Amino acid sequence: MLILGIESSCDETAAAVLENGDKLRSNVVNTQINVHRKYGGVVPELASRKHVENIYPVVQEALDQAGVTLDQIDGLAVTQGPGLIGSLLVGLSFAKAVSFVKKIPYVGVDHLAGHLISSFLSKDKPGFPYICLVASGGHTNIFQVSDPVTYKLLGRSRDDAAGEAFDKVAKLLELGYPGGPVISERSATGNPRAIDFPRAWLEKDSLDFSFSGIKTAVANFVRLQKQKSEKLNIPDICASFQEAVVEILTEKTLRAARLQKTDNVVLAGGVAANPRLRENLVNKGTKEGCKVYVPPPDFCTDNAAMIALAGFYRFSTEKTLSLDMDVYSRTPQ
Ligand code: KG4
Ligand code: ZN
Repeated sequence: MLILGIESSCDETAAAVLENGDKLRSNVVNTQINVHRKYGGVVPELASRKHVENIYPVVQEALDQAGVTLDQIDGLAVTQGPGLIGSLLVGLSFAKAVSFVKKIPYVGVDHLAGHLISSFLSKDKPGFPYICLVASGGHTNIFQVSDPVTYKLLGRSRDDAAGEAFDKVAKLLELGYPGGPVISERSATGNPRAIDFPRAWLEKDSLDFSFSGIKTAVANFVRLQKQKSEKLNIPDICASFQEAVVEILTEKTLRAARLQKTDNVVLAGGVAANPRLRENLVNKGTKEGCKVYVPPPDFCTDNAAMIALAGFYRFSTEKTLSLDMDVYSRTPQ
């Protein structure tokens, strides 16, 4: 079975061809980072316009790289939500048009379901059940995943997402957008213990997160340094901020594993590309007897391969979508 996956929920236009839920024939990602960089964040209207420009060439490239034509595609899997409404509509409308003209069935995929299954795209696949941390620019969630289509939310951010905190701190340090990659790069030469930024642990045993406090703490620190006319040590600030976020993400994820008595732990979402988080979760998790799976960074950040894979499982359990199906900006509760 050949599935064409399409992802357009935020600022990446992506398409991938997946064979039998296992063999990735192509995985094309067109990122709009250069369009949004000068604004310090994603501008929704610009994002949807770029998706309109990119969707056809990106899908065509995915088909070409896979060496197939649309006539050979058995099913379409498209991100239905959550995400930016205008951006999601481009992918969904494109999939509907292809489905209608070529008579190919299509399913809608929840973007988070894609991130949750993304570790199955690499060779080392986790067993079920597993705890999965999805940390991205829009979400910081901990799920218990029982099978490819069944998952339960255990914890979530009550305010900013982890990636959003990286982006906001990078903006106030004038390091550019997106913040995650540049902060992890600048952290390499910094001292993670130089500044004791606060860790929001919340209530005892809580699996929720809060990252708005640390962002404010960094802003206050920078303001005080400037008032004292002291030079900012950017590597130390980056490393100390990153360490605080990594400690919280690691501890809460392993806490979920302990509470749920689950040994398999999986990392997903854009922030999972952070080398310090990957290293810390593997080290601490292994010490606690967990098997920690960290997919290659290309499968952590937004891509259509994970959407095609989640769609593959949806096809086996669900009716395909009708043409009046709509997108959603938030996951329905
Ligand atoms: O999953 P993703 O590609 O898109 C969303 O669904 O949001 O995640 C993007 C987020 C951005 O906030 C970006 O700053 C963050 O992931 N990110 C990182 C790193 N690479 C990307 N955060 C920390 N360290 C990184 N190396
Ligand atoms: Zn994402």
